[in-house]
Amino acid sequence: MDFQWMTFPERPDLAVDVGPLHHQFPRFLVQGGPVTQQYWGDLYRYFPDFQFALSDAGGLVAACGHAIPLRWDGTVDDLPAGYDGALERGIADRQMERAPNTLCALAAITSPQHKRGGWSAQIIATMQAIAKGHALSTLIAPVRPTGKANYPLLTMERCVQWVRSDGSPFDPWLRVHWRLGGACLGVAQRSMTISGSVQEWETWTGMRFPASGPYVVPQAFNPVQIDVQTNCGLYISSLTCGFSMTYRRSSVSFPEDIFSQGYALMHQSLHIRGRMCRSACPTSTDGDCASRY
Ligand SMILES: CC(C)(COP(=O)(O)OP(=O)(O)OC[C@H]1O[C@@H](n2cnc3c(N)ncnc32)[C@H](O)[C@@H]1OP(=O)(O)O)[C@@H](O)C(=O)NCCC(=O)NCCS
Repeated sequence: MDFQWMTFPERPDLAVDVGPLHHQFPRFLVQGGPVTQQYWGDLYRYFPDFQFALSDAGGLVAACGHAIPLRWDGTVDDLPAGYDGALERGIADRQMERAPNTLCALAAITSPQHKRGGWSAQIIATMQAIAKGHALSTLIAPVRPTGKANYPLLTMERCVQWVRSDGSPFDPWLRVHWRLGGACLGVAQRSMTISGSVQEWETWTGMRFPASGPYVVPQAFNPVQIDVQTNCGLYISSLTCGFSMTYRRSSVSFPEDIFSQGYALMHQSLHIRGRMCRSACPTSTDGDCASRY
């Protein structure tokens, strides 16, 4: 595969060019996550060297990747709580002037025109190369298994245990990480928070929610809990998983030594916090689902 990668400082207009790629995420993910809303601008502002795109032989943006450097002591206990936790930790580390030692992946996106062309592994490999270039010894990732949305009633733990006859993960996106040497570290119970009013959920999904209850929503990993009384839509994902790893040789066309870095993956789980319903939320697993934030 003939491609080039470039970071935002190398080509400042990239931030605009990769924007349309993000439209592939469901709207509730992009618009309903308070941590993402709060920090995505800071990610671009403070960490442009870790935001990048891959261009194809014709110079078209084929894929992009986003990551944040942070400090991790290498133990499962010290893993960021998930996607939100990684974003928050990276920003906090910078504010506290704690030197990062780890790169944490936040997003990997292939353009619709380049789908299924093997670009996703190149995105991860580029993250490994960038980490190495900044003397960050490990790459971790809160991973969103892309196939999980097809099984909204399945727990994340079960999802990551599903394997094919050759032992590779059942989920295609997990398989990419697995081939690069990733292995599960554990489930991130509260990886990302998504919350909104019933009206917001209706706008994000194009569905109607006339009564309280759980709803299967396209691209959500598990049912969204709607409470019309409190005007609250809660997305409490089943708990996700993380990975640790020993590296393996890879077919990706990067120098072999890139893969000598430790590389750990951490699954991303999505859950809702009660932004609109701070009192006890009947659908929450822990009563006051807002209290932890
Ligand atoms: C997930 C994503 C990055 C994969 O990118 P890609 O470059 O098209 O994927 P690849 O061509 O490298 O394929 C990787 C694996 O996924 C499989 N795959 C890709 N698209 C698939 C689909 N729509 N359905 C099922 N399997 C699929 C491929 O067959 C391949 O698996 P295999 O080699 O074991 O057969 C891309 O679909 C995407 O940008 N999705 C939207 C953003 C997103 O969800 N990103 C991931 C979380 S941050």
